[in-house]
Parts: sequence; structure tokens; C-alpha cells
Amino acid sequence: PWAETTEGTGINITCSHPNIQTVEVIYWYRHLPGQGPASLAFGTRGSNALRDLPGWLVVAADRRSSALWLTDPRLRDAAVYYSLLGDWRGIPDCMSCV
Ligand SMILES: *[C@@H]1O[C@H](CO)[C@@H](O)[C@H](O)[C@H]1NC(C)=O
Repeated sequence: PWAETTEGTGINITCSHPNIQTVEVIYWYRHLPGQGPASLAFGTRGSNALRDLPGWLVVAADRRSSALWLTDPRLRDAAVYYSLLGDWRGIPDCMSCV
């Protein structure tokens, strides 16, 4: 799937994961052109502010979907965004494994 917006207009990038297990954590990464995948956020429930850009990771109450809500997207945020499920032992922070 793809989504588009204009600079400064917020967007939700959504991911469906209907078979999520109780122990699983939701991770979001993005892959900017010419770079390696970079960790953006992870969470189990509720809404968590993103660390590196304006926005939120929003997990649905039933945990069957999640969204990366970018509140002030810029052209430089054009990328491939991934969500994945894992456990707390985790997934390496690929900012340091390029
Ligand atoms: C993104 O989703 C959240 C939670 O459902 C909602 O509150 C917000 O208005 C949405 N933002 C946009 C830009 O659609």
C-alpha cells in the first residue's frame, strides 16, 4: 500500500496485524532512499510520541492494527515504512547496522 500527503498535512500510515499475540510488540521502521532501515518506534498499546520526528505511534484498543501518525510530514520523510511484530528481546536498532 502507499499513501501520500503534502508538507505539513498530517497523515496516518496504517498497518493491520490481526493475528498479533499477547506477548508481541509492534515495531515501526522506515527506509529512506540510500540509507538502511531505521527504527522509529515500538509499543504495545496506546499512543506514544515518536522520538525523532513529530508524531505518534497509535495502537488500536484491540491491538489488531497500528498507525504511525506523522503530524508534520516533510518531503524528507518520503520513505518506505514498515511495521513488524516481535518480542522484547527484539530486533536490532538498524540505525547502527547499516
Ligand atoms: C490519525 O489517527 C488518529 C487516531 O485514530 C486520529 O486521532 C487522527 O486524527 C488521525 N490523523 C489524521 C491526520 O488523519
